[in-house]
Amino acid sequence: MEKNIDQIFKRLFGTSNHAIHHYHCPGRLNFIGEHLDYNGGSVMPFAIELGIDLYIRPNQEMKFRMFSSDFEKQIILPSDTEKIQYSKDNGWGNYPLGIIEILKQKGFSFDGYDFYFKSNLPTGAGLSSSAAIEVLTAFALLDLAAEKIDRTQIALWAKEAENNFIGVACGIMDQFAVAMGKNGHLICLNCETMDYSYVPVNLDGYSILILNTKTSRSLEHSYFNTRRAECEEAENELNKNGNSTRLAHADLKHLDIIPSENARKRAQHVISEQSRVIAMKDAISGDIDLVAGLINASHLSLKNDFEVTGEYLDRMQEIALRQDGCIASRMTGAGFAGCGLAIVENEKVSSFKNVFVEQYKDALGFDAEVYTCNPQNGVHKVGEI
Ligand code: GLA
Repeated sequence: MEKNIDQIFKRLFGTSNHAIHHYHCPGRLNFIGEHLDYNGGSVMPFAIELGIDLYIRPNQEMKFRMFSSDFEKQIILPSDTEKIQYSKDNGWGNYPLGIIEILKQKGFSFDGYDFYFKSNLPTGAGLSSSAAIEVLTAFALLDLAAEKIDRTQIALWAKEAENNFIGVACGIMDQFAVAMGKNGHLICLNCETMDYSYVPVNLDGYSILILNTKTSRSLEHSYFNTRRAECEEAENELNKNGNSTRLAHADLKHLDIIPSENARKRAQHVISEQSRVIAMKDAISGDIDLVAGLINASHLSLKNDFEVTGEYLDRMQEIALRQDGCIASRMTGAGFAGCGLAIVENEKVSSFKNVFVEQYKDALGFDAEVYTCNPQNGVHKVGEI
């Protein structure tokens, strides 16, 4: 592998005396707490094995030259460009460029670097590939510049890039999870205060699987911003008396005062999901039946009240729950397409994988993928070549 990277650099960027630095950033799976981060609630994600590798080397040319093993489009830009603009032409490159622009706005400046990204994280599949590439780029550049690494700060800057450069009004969950993940643990993050704790995963005898429906979300961004606006509408209605309670902490008893039915349903999901996260914090240390109940209830709430599951994720959940040994399943991430999770008895994992993929194909006509997953550490340096 290392020899290979050396050759790739020689071919793409020429020879150099500088070392190639290798960084890795995982994707994330949100276990529970969906659409809560931008509503002042708490979430429980963790970093996963699938992720993005960045091989990066300084160059003498005051240029950022970026290649990806997955996309043909290469990006070349003077590293002293005054203001980097979002451009459709830059495709995937907008994610690393967006975070670089935010870092520049914070006062950092960078010499030239050659970047080679290599990923096994499916894009647009609800596993936070965009957060991963943003956090990875920021972490590597700051580390190489010998700047102090504050992971929470990197996550906040990556969110700023997503909100202001890419134009998706996401919350902080994804960036925080991929920056702060910890081996063997879920992260419990209060998105209002940014307080967090690590909760060990103890699913005695059961495994968490990622179910990839192999569908991606072309409409996700517009739906995402609409859902966010509906939540804001609900929060404003509930606070008309002068309060400033975030939606996740509002009282279900007051929902009747929200005139719009859609806004009312979004609030119903957000408030009930917050109570499921609180219950999960205790359940995860050994009450497997409660864990399963909360996961299944979360999917139903996302289906009926938040209305972001859609055909593929619903079929995924139905088919998963039909299998011997599967006690829970739900969508994960923004919704509409992408991935979900299942909790399956350890002994049944291998038969689950086969039968799930077969039945999904019978129902939908194309192959799903199933990955085993264990919580991992967040972004880190792997070494030098
Ligand atoms: C996307 C966003 C997150 C979060 C989830 C839904 O992944 O990027 O901020 O809102 O959807 O929980």
